[in-house]
Amino acid sequence: MTNHIYTTFDKIKDRNAKEIYLKQRGKVIWFTGLSGSGKTTLASMLEKRLFEFNYFCQILDGDNVRSGINKNLKFTEEDRLENIRRIAEVSKLFMNCGIILICSFISPTNEMRQMAKNIIGEDDFLEVFINTPLEVCEQRDPKGLYKKARAGEIKNFTGISAPFENPENPFVEIKNTNPDIDETVRKMLMQILPEIRFDPTHNL
Ligand code: ADX
Repeated sequence: MTNHIYTTFDKIKDRNAKEIYLKQRGKVIWFTGLSGSGKTTLASMLEKRLFEFNYFCQILDGDNVRSGINKNLKFTEEDRLENIRRIAEVSKLFMNCGIILICSFISPTNEMRQMAKNIIGEDDFLEVFINTPLEVCEQRDPKGLYKKARAGEIKNFTGISAPFENPENPFVEIKNTNPDIDETVRKMLMQILPEIRFDPTHNL
């Protein structure tokens, strides 16, 4: 060790024991999509449904995380990468405790999402692409940010003056133009449940 860091992850009670205790599999459900695409709404509706099925979840959401642990970060490419890196590391800590994470971040580039997947592990990273067209997000403009970005008052705004790359192979894709939001959540739920369901024979 050159940096004098001595991790003790091997001494911590293992993930499987905690998953057995919680009767669920820890996973990271990673929502990506433009600002105003519906990520926050869908994430909280999903959490509510999962809770009804006795699943124990934690939501991590862009604006909340950026007002706390990541309040020193801005929206440059470099800071967004650091934002996602920290969130992925925090998610992994929760996940290793058997908890289901619902992460809701623009995470605009393939590089950022790939980094999160590498940190969390491919098998545990479930990417959900909220594919709402820019025109729809801009028309909704729930926080008035697109208007400000168009007026040049916000720099590096995703979709306007900073890129958003569509994920190539998401686990779930929601074309959020469907007005029946309950049906959208149900569809998502049906795909996610088999991934988090507790199987006592899993490690036999
Ligand atoms: S990310 O790109 O680093 O993943 P994150 O999801 O944390 O972004 O934060 C996005 C939220 O920050 C948006 O929903 C919006 O409310 C706010 N925001 C402020 N400035 C910007 C900007 N330049 N681009 C995108 N979102 C911004």
